[in-house]
Amino acid sequence: MNEPEVAYQQALEILTQKGLQREFIENASLKINHARQLSEIGREKKPSKILEIGIFVGVSSAILGLCLPETHIVSIDPGLPVEIQDILAVRKFDIQEKRTNLSFVLELLNDLKIADRFTLTKGFFSCCFPNQEDREKVVNYGIKLDEYQLVGKQICEQYQPFDLVFLDADHRTSAVASDLKLVYPYLASGGKIILHDVGLDYWGKQVRMGVEEFLAENSHVKFEIEGEIGYLYEEDI
Ligand SMILES: C[S@@+](CC[C@H](N)C(=O)[O-])C[C@H]1O[C@@H](n2cnc3c(N)ncnc32)[C@H](O)[C@@H]1O
Repeated sequence: MNEPEVAYQQALEILTQKGLQREFIENASLKINHARQLSEIGREKKPSKILEIGIFVGVSSAILGLCLPETHIVSIDPGLPVEIQDILAVRKFDIQEKRTNLSFVLELLNDLKIADRFTLTKGFFSCCFPNQEDREKVVNYGIKLDEYQLVGKQICEQYQPFDLVFLDADHRTSAVASDLKLVYPYLASGGKIILHDVGLDYWGKQVRMGVEEFLAENSHVKFEIEGEIGYLYEEDI
């Protein structure tokens, strides 16, 4: 079993060796303290199956895979060219990388020798860029969104129940509410949904509003926040 700090550094090293800029990866991935939180809850729950929604280049996948060596991880991401992530963030890092994020993820998991415990699925979870501005950026880049499928329902039916769900995909309010609504019924009894980026910045507020929308229809569900990580679960009666 690996410590999260070691797993995090290993993933970052491999990805930078493959040509990705470190600051760019760090900006769009979970941070080292979030990796610790993820590994801690994972070790406490001893999940046999985790659903990961939103992979990017695989930092969170590497943490889950290395820190939880007994767990099967089902991961979903549309697999767009890496530079799209930068375009959506107004070209902050000037990234020119046309290979897809999933091609990096596959190489990373193979290099770490943990690929056999992953089921990687290409597709959108419950919705596809509901925000018009995001959608236009992606379409203007040349992506034909009608060639991508919504795979969430089918994957949940096929691999349920999930002891943990790690939700770190589209952070827009309506996307978060829609993802939560779809995934919640597939949580195992005593399971938890872990949400990334629930802090107080712009994206944190978007995610929190999505959670509030979900909670308005699911008032029995508890929501706890620890820094930038949120937990949704039902209390034992
Ligand atoms: C913040 S990044 C994920 C970072 C990753 N969890 C990590 O910490 O290393 C968000 C990812 O969600 C993906 N994404 C965007 N919309 C999605 C959707 N509707 N369903 C699934 N994934 C989506 C993007 O392609 C991107 O790779």
